Amino acid sequence: MSRRAVGIGLISVGWMGRAHSRAYRNVVEHYPELEVRPELVVAADLVEANRRDAVDLLGYRDAVADWREVLAHPEVQAVSICSPNYLHRELALAAASAGKPFWIEKPMGRGLAESDDIARAAAEAGVVTAVGFSYRNPPAIQKARELIAAGRLGRITNVRVSFLADYSSDPDGALMWRFIRDRAGSGVYGDLLSHGFDLASHLVGPIAEVSAAQETFIAERPQLTGAAIGHNATATGAPGAVENEDYAAVIARFENGALGVFESSRIAVGPRAE
Ligand SMILES: NC(=O)c1ccc[n+]([C@@H]2O[C@H](COP(=O)([O-])OP(=O)(O)OC[C@H]3O[C@@H](n4cnc5c(N)ncnc54)[C@H](O)[C@@H]3O)[C@@H](O)[C@H]2O)c1
Repeated sequence: MSRRAVGIGLISVGWMGRAHSRAYRNVVEHYPELEVRPELVVAADLVEANRRDAVDLLGYRDAVADWREVLAHPEVQAVSICSPNYLHRELALAAASAGKPFWIEKPMGRGLAESDDIARAAAEAGVVTAVGFSYRNPPAIQKARELIAAGRLGRITNVRVSFLADYSSDPDGALMWRFIRDRAGSGVYGDLLSHGFDLASHLVGPIAEVSAAQETFIAERPQLTGAAIGHNATATGAPGAVENEDYAAVIARFENGALGVFESSRIAVGPRAE
């Protein structure tokens, strides 16, 4: 089958930018019925080593330092926004105004106001978008949704979500952007529990009320001196303050009357989730 090429632009070649790139490379193998195929056109990252990887390892034709070149590239027809959270609003508004459909990583904004701005800009521009709630897509979840919607499981009375991760369990792990409020917004609420809230709403329906408690158990971490990607890195810099939560416990009431219990930690030793 000859498939129409769709030009892809990537903004940020970090942990998630690499995951998106692998997915683009594999998508036709997984879904041979597709009539299109992604063509990796250009990636942007501030760090030269990441730009080199984009071309040498990930298969982009070109890599640039300025993300504006990705949005302006005439062959880029869809964009993956895989940047740290503090860039999401600016990038999404620019993508919408360039008329480029985009997949933006979660959490969309650092808070409600930024997320609203992004949703409004995309709607006004009429571009197709997706938010990186990747746990929605496995076939088992899609099947569960169908079964619940068809009433096959009866009345859903309660939901329990546990998202435990160890990525920050080492107190000597670096103070990455994820721990700084101005850069990340919240801690586990946005980084991990946003997946849980999305999944529960996807299956059971909207959440109406919540009550929550959170805590930062590792209050300081060594500051990062060089560049690093991913969830953790070792660092030897002076200690800096962790500004958002390591752990959250939430109880919720869904609009349909179901109750929910949500728990998330980034310092639970053992469970891997990155
Ligand atoms: N859907 C999921 O399951 C999932 C998993 C992990 C991360 N994420 C999300 O993906 C996003 C990125 O997280 P990550 O783990 O890849 O972060 P990361 O720290 O690994 O990578 C961030 C990258 O952004 C680059 N960058 C910084 N400023 C830039 C700029 N001005 N222009 C271009 N690039 C710039 C950095 O050099 C780095 O390569 C976050 O919003 C995160 O919440 C989603």
